[in-house]
Amino acid sequence: MFSGAICRRANWLLRLSIVLNVCVVLLFVGTHFRSSGPWVEEPPAGWAGSTQDALLGTAMRPGATGTSGSSVTAETSKTDGARTKTSLSSLATSSSLASSSSSLAAQVEANRTKLASAETASEVDRAKANQTANQKPELTLQEAIECNDKPLNRKTSQRGDYWVLYNYVPMSEKPHCWESVTYTTHADYTFLDNLEPLLDRWRAPISIALHAPGGDFPPTIEAIKYARTCAGPLVSRYVTFHVYFSSKHMPKYIPSGDRVSNDRANCSKPAPWANVSVASMYKTERKLLYPVNVGRNVARESASTRYVLASDIELYPSPELPANFLEMVRRKAHPALSRPNPKVFVLSIFEVDEKSQPPRNKTALMQMLKTGSLIPFHKKLCSGCHNVPRAKEWQEAKETRSLSVFHIGKRTGSFVHWEPIYIGTNDDPLYDERLSWEGKSDKMTQGYALCVLNYDFLILDNAFLVHRPGIKVYKKDAYRDTLTAKTNVLIKKIITPELKVLYGTKKGCAV
Ligand SMILES: *[C@@H]1O[C@H](CO)[C@@H](O)[C@H](O)[C@H]1NC(C)=O
Ligand SMILES: *[C@@H]1O[C@H](CO)[C@@H](O)[C@H](O)[C@H]1NC(C)=O
Ligand SMILES: *[C@@H]1O[C@H](CO)[C@@H](O)[C@H](O)[C@H]1NC(C)=O
Ligand SMILES: *[C@@H]1O[C@H](CO)[C@@H](O)[C@H](O)[C@H]1NC(C)=O
Repeated sequence: MFSGAICRRANWLLRLSIVLNVCVVLLFVGTHFRSSGPWVEEPPAGWAGSTQDALLGTAMRPGATGTSGSSVTAETSKTDGARTKTSLSSLATSSSLASSSSSLAAQVEANRTKLASAETASEVDRAKANQTANQKPELTLQEAIECNDKPLNRKTSQRGDYWVLYNYVPMSEKPHCWESVTYTTHADYTFLDNLEPLLDRWRAPISIALHAPGGDFPPTIEAIKYARTCAGPLVSRYVTFHVYFSSKHMPKYIPSGDRVSNDRANCSKPAPWANVSVASMYKTERKLLYPVNVGRNVARESASTRYVLASDIELYPSPELPANFLEMVRRKAHPALSRPNPKVFVLSIFEVDEKSQPPRNKTALMQMLKTGSLIPFHKKLCSGCHNVPRAKEWQEAKETRSLSVFHIGKRTGSFVHWEPIYIGTNDDPLYDERLSWEGKSDKMTQGYALCVLNYDFLILDNAFLVHRPGIKVYKKDAYRDTLTAKTNVLIKKIITPELKVLYGTKKGCAV
């Protein structure tokens, strides 16, 4: 990490006035975690690839379960550079985000005491401390990430043709907006089996919008209850469920969010998402399209943290990402973080074969790349679609200790149709709600806006996403092909001209 940081609280400075006022601070709490939708992996319009297995949902889902337990270590840098590792109970820190600032404060205080009594500090130490004291003070997370807290209030309201039950069943954690990162996503209830492996690695808030038209509503409610009761304690702690449906496909009855939150499911029964026949779902029978971007926007806008990872539920992040990311932002770990351009933080994406567990760190990932049990996402379906700038160099660069920026990419040149998945904020443009998952290219128009607004795409060095096990292969789907063609016309004739009015144009940018 880094050695020596300044403790900026005035009272401490006073109390330490005899000694050099240098202290310390604990910096960093790393959480060791363990250990996607159909909707991500769509090639851009015009590419030959198309996949139906994703549409069918259950076709490729060998369970992705996590491995071992978790532990949290807090690392404290002292001025002499020695590090003390303190093991905390994972539940004490990572889980109770709200109280993590107080446990951080306790760590800092412990360090201060240690320092004050350490009269053996050598000249070298003092010189170092002096040097540190002359530098700009370190910011706290709260200072580095300026934001306003947002309560997760229940609200029923309309959004275009849709009714949305915002924060219908909220998480029990109440982190400050600077204290965590929210994974925001969308799904129908048949995908909720992903929550457990996802939380096993993420261990931070998840905001999920569930599409539940007509007869799909009751099993959705059962699935929420079942996940909260039977899929481990992290679900009720971290997951906020929003539910939405078209006003043309109303459910018959909507229980209160309180009741759904308090009801318990019978865990001896099979999960509501197990062995669902997609053909018999209300959405399929009525030939409804999946309004992917309504879900994406509902989930993202409802997040209570400043930073959000808008992702697809079958993409599992590398463990410890939220804490490492915030620490990188706090200490502006790379000059790219100080550039004036708007920015998002891009994750490289991979997939593993059915027999393999997603890697838990970059070192393991590189080994799996060598053996071929892991490949870049969509290599077989549409290599190029999810290609990340400097991907080859990234794959060859050794893992380093903390998280930083590997490369600053732009959505131009051979990446002009790039649909990156990234950590950003709610200041970034939203997704166009007229686009459906079936029609593809659902993130293209947002990508265009980012390009025109001159976004920097900061590619993270040691963090990544891995799709739930099972490598996608191409399957022809005539129905989707016609929808794709219609979508391309909509994008070209209607949406692109709108975006040009809204955002202007920029050389090198294309939808
Ligand atoms: C501490 O810094 C001051 C000002 O930069 C310098 O004059 C002084 O010599 C330094 N002391 C030590 C012990 O390095
Ligand atoms: C839970 O489900 C099992 C299996 O269907 C059943 O035998 C049991 O009686 C149920 N328990 C309760 C409390 O309903
Ligand atoms: C789901 O189907 C599989 C294979 O058809 C079967 O082995 C499994 O027991 C079923 N699970 C449930 C919960 O019905
Ligand atoms: C990376 O993951 C592998 C496999 O899970 C593990 O054996 C190794 O200790 C990990 N390395 C680090 C640096 O955490």
